[in-house]
Amino acid sequence: MTNRKPRVLATRHFPPDVETRLTANFDAVLNPEDRLLDGQALAGASEGCEAIMCAAGDPLNAETIAALPASVRMIATFSVGYEHVDVAAAAKRKIVVSNTPDVLTDATADIAMLCLLGAARRAHEGAAMLRTHHWVGWTPTQLMGVQVTGKRLGILGMGRIGQAMADRARAFRMTIHYSNRSRLPPDLEKGAVFHADPEAMLPHCDFLSINAPMTAETRKWVNAERIARLPRGAIVINTARGGVVDDDALIAALRSGHLASAGLDVFDGEPRIHQGYYALENTFLLPHMGSATVETRNAMGFKALDNLEAYLLRGQSPPDLVRAS
Ligand code: 8YV
Repeated sequence: MTNRKPRVLATRHFPPDVETRLTANFDAVLNPEDRLLDGQALAGASEGCEAIMCAAGDPLNAETIAALPASVRMIATFSVGYEHVDVAAAAKRKIVVSNTPDVLTDATADIAMLCLLGAARRAHEGAAMLRTHHWVGWTPTQLMGVQVTGKRLGILGMGRIGQAMADRARAFRMTIHYSNRSRLPPDLEKGAVFHADPEAMLPHCDFLSINAPMTAETRKWVNAERIARLPRGAIVINTARGGVVDDDALIAALRSGHLASAGLDVFDGEPRIHQGYYALENTFLLPHMGSATVETRNAMGFKALDNLEAYLLRGQSPPDLVRAS
């Protein structure tokens, strides 16, 4: 009987407190330079590892999973979204997968509200005007944006983050519409208007916030036809996954003026985002910062570790087990 600690590959450089616990409890293979690993490098670096602690953007697709050494028994992603992990391919190899729900709900909903406010109130243009020394002083018509208070907010995907966004928007006296796979019970719905058909919700949205996971069904869901169903002057907010939006269609609608603005924290193919966004003033763009607070990133890391420790050290099912659908 040996006391060897299970070896765990950390694909990214995680917050210091998280890596301290990771190295205390496991034989950790760290990535202090935060070098991005492609599928082949990831499989190679996993040699001798029992688990992989990964993050969004790591290519744990079917091909990488097939190339993983037989020693790998678990993939714990430091994220709530797990579209980067082929869960069915992992299940076939009896590799369990866990994620980090709940702990990033508030931070992500805060950023969604920041995107909503930033897009509506032309925060990017105002900040740029000031920082580039182009502010000539207050004028009655300068940087007039869109009023937020009292407007209608449509939420696509009313899970934890969608509900937390609704709670924030209620403080702005916004009327909440939502579309979700299933209707919420009244105590969670809190008077929000449910649309079984998401397309039917679109004409009611002064603001549309995307809070749905990235799936085959939601890929490029926000396309030209659906954008056309939004009222003229609507604003699109995306803090979920860039792939839910058809960038060409969104950019065309922002150029034509059909949409007043967009507040985006996530992008298809990030960090190489669609070039068209750079030329648009009527956007408020952030580099995927939804969960980026010290408290939240620590909590995500600790949750990933709770899952690794449950499975690898105690032989229990990870509390945040992701099941293949
Ligand atoms: C994370 C996220 O920061 O958890 C998610 O799904 O989108 C982000 O908030 C990122 O994905 C880290 O893996």
